[in-house]
Amino acid sequence: MEPLLTTTDRRRVVVESHLGGGEHRTLADDVLDGLTRPFKELPPKHFYDAHGAALFDRICEQPEYYPTRAERAILATRSDQIVAATGAAELVELGSGTAAKTRLLLAAMHRAGTLERYVPIDVTESMVRASADELIEEFDGLRVHGIVGDFERHLDRVPLPVPGRPRIVAFLGGTIGNFPPGSRRRFLRSLERLLGEDGYLLLGTDLVKDVAVLEAAYDDAAGVTAAFNRNVLTVVNRELDANFVPESFDHVAFFDRDREWIEMRLRAQRPQRVHVGALDLRLTFAAGEELRTEISAKFTRERIAGDLAAAGMVLRDQVVDPDGLFALNLAQRRG
Ligand code: AVJ
Repeated sequence: MEPLLTTTDRRRVVVESHLGGGEHRTLADDVLDGLTRPFKELPPKHFYDAHGAALFDRICEQPEYYPTRAERAILATRSDQIVAATGAAELVELGSGTAAKTRLLLAAMHRAGTLERYVPIDVTESMVRASADELIEEFDGLRVHGIVGDFERHLDRVPLPVPGRPRIVAFLGGTIGNFPPGSRRRFLRSLERLLGEDGYLLLGTDLVKDVAVLEAAYDDAAGVTAAFNRNVLTVVNRELDANFVPESFDHVAFFDRDREWIEMRLRAQRPQRVHVGALDLRLTFAAGEELRTEISAKFTRERIAGDLAAAGMVLRDQVVDPDGLFALNLAQRRG
């Protein structure tokens, strides 16, 4: 006979996993497509193995990397207002990670007396489980429906909203900036189903600002972002039996003023030959050749309002931190 508490807790937490090894194929496809192009590119989602996720957490603590602190400052002071505007009973979070900032929203929903359920979706199963277990301890009555999956591929696994129980769909951290403009609008449109009639999207966006501030945030003095960037080559080495020498690539980060995004690249210090064993693929890099590893778009209010409108949504409110660095946008389906 198990202790009653455990049984009760189990019924408050459901975690579904939708990752069945297809991730290897995703990386292989991305390497095959991206590294055989005239302008080499890899999508940023492959940064986040266990080591990459730890490096990202360290990036967030660097003095130059302001977005995490700025977003947390907004949530710390404005969560009650945000929650009150929505009447939300549920919080669905895309890319929940350690759910550090999420607590501030859940606490506000708890204070408002509306909190029922938290639905985190993240690729890291251990993080979904650990945060679920902690949060049900922290908020009495909370149920957690965790989804282990990729928010670009598994949104159809998120339970549909129940009419009359509005939800907030949160996409924090500025990760929407990783999508190029067309895919960004397509992705926003794909959230329609999750929002239902009465749901709200809470979208974190980094703001356009002084170029020096932006570029420093992606090239910290301690070299943590550089290590994070090179780590993607270590991931390819391990997962696809490749022989990149990460130290022979320089970290590059610059703000593209026309496109209003940060680009991160890895620049070959000298000519290189690389073999990707799992694909039996031979690659060459010329000296100085660059591989794009990330774009991180920065927004004006007009741009985000335009993207939301193109995706069938209306920007209801935008809350900015006191330093004007980062914004949380609250949007609703049109009509
Ligand atoms: C997690 C995508 C929001 O773009 O600022 C941090 C990732 N890359 N430093 C960002 C990142 C380099 C981050 N996002």
